[in-house]
Amino acid sequence: MKYLIDEIYKSVRGLVPNAELCDGAEVELEGWVRTNRSSNKIGFIALNDGSCFQNCQIVYEEDKVANYADVAKFLTGCSVKVSGKLIITEGAKQPFEVNAAEIELLGDCDASYPLQKKRHGLEFLREIPHLRPRTNTFMAVFKIRSVVSQSLHEFFRQNGFVYIHTPIITGNDAEGAGECFTVTTREDGNYREDFFGKHACLTVSGQLHVEPFALSFGKVYTFGPTFRAENSNTPYHASEFWMIEPEMAFCDLKGDMAVMEAMLKYVINDVMKSCPDELEFLNNFVAEKHDLISKLESVVNSDFKVITYTEAVDELIKSGEKFENPVSWGMDFNKEHEVYICEKIAKGPVFLIDFPKDIKAFYMKLNPDGKTVAACDLLVPGVGELIGGSQREENFELLDRRMDELKMEKETLDWYLDLRRYGGVIHSGFGLGLERLLMYVTGVANIRDVQAYSRTPKNLKF
Ligand code: 4AD
Ligand code: MG
Repeated sequence: MKYLIDEIYKSVRGLVPNAELCDGAEVELEGWVRTNRSSNKIGFIALNDGSCFQNCQIVYEEDKVANYADVAKFLTGCSVKVSGKLIITEGAKQPFEVNAAEIELLGDCDASYPLQKKRHGLEFLREIPHLRPRTNTFMAVFKIRSVVSQSLHEFFRQNGFVYIHTPIITGNDAEGAGECFTVTTREDGNYREDFFGKHACLTVSGQLHVEPFALSFGKVYTFGPTFRAENSNTPYHASEFWMIEPEMAFCDLKGDMAVMEAMLKYVINDVMKSCPDELEFLNNFVAEKHDLISKLESVVNSDFKVITYTEAVDELIKSGEKFENPVSWGMDFNKEHEVYICEKIAKGPVFLIDFPKDIKAFYMKLNPDGKTVAACDLLVPGVGELIGGSQREENFELLDRRMDELKMEKETLDWYLDLRRYGGVIHSGFGLGLERLLMYVTGVANIRDVQAYSRTPKNLKF
């Protein structure tokens, strides 16, 4: 309790909602100088203490602050401790300022500090991932990343899901979701003699490991890092990214999609409520068309559309649009098709369902037509595929046959077939890429800018 009361007087976050109450109170703040300007009598520091997005204006006057001449020379980036009196500022943009009695330099900042008072390009900032968290853009992005992660947990907890921690090192790379990174302690590739006595890799998805828990608890999810060794150098692909993967027993594809939609609306509502300053900043300075907030508001108030893969193929052909990759039934859609489907056909988030079985994973439920599977991709404008999910094949014979058709090594996945041998039920799940969701919610156009230290091909700076 003592700490919480202190917090009001010792952080900008504590002061903002209590400013009226604190008028005239002695406060003490520790933070970093964003800007500092002064004349020979009075100076102003924009201080950011990290506790909230807003800076706090510190006013220092020559006749009140003993080390006035020194303070006037404090450079952008240095850390300081300020004590003084909170003053309500009528009519100003900031609701209050602090009239300093003492300003102590905690850590000086070299003049070579790269974050000077001007706008820096995101590419330049990508070269200094250890300093960019001190910029407005990255403070907003990483605050929202934290809120979104916690919000996802809240959504699942409130709805009775159990959180399962699936492993990062795995012995099966048979999911088909993507290329995997090998984990080895040897140089000669002799996996039999290797640490685990077999080939091991970093997980591409926690799904297969979480499914057994759905057949115990009913509703579960896993949420953790996943790794893909595809050489895709795009703004949407990372080699390491976080995925949230719920799995529900007694749930078909329709139920699966209902969970996806409810989850996204819950999270977006929460971000709009918890991070208004961050969103306003991103809307004005980062989102290309400055339509971020209106887009998020419309998402929570709309019903997501559903169209089948086959309908989408027909619509794309009918459109007469010249695509780089011509459209035909059976193809996997490219970015250009996804963009067209989302932005021109559906004009918002859209579930694409019932894909040809040959372009999807082995475990997806075969539809009665024998050609398509009960799979679903959620596409959103600006990002493309945000979620991939499906109803799983619960029929032992059908799954077994599909694994044979694909010439899969069944020994490593016999345990997965057990789930169909012992009390199998209809079940479904999906994978949401956390970074793709963040791109959507923040309006940031490159996945490298929603990860603290992004890993992409030829990029492992820190
Ligand atoms: O569609 P994916 O490959 O599906 C799976 O891995 C399933 N096992 C999920 C499940 O049903 N439990 O990946 C799911 C999501 C994609 O929709 C996308 O948002 C994200 O993960 N994703 C990536 N995000 C960033 N970089 C990459 N390289 C990604 N690959 C997939
Ligand atoms: Mg997918």
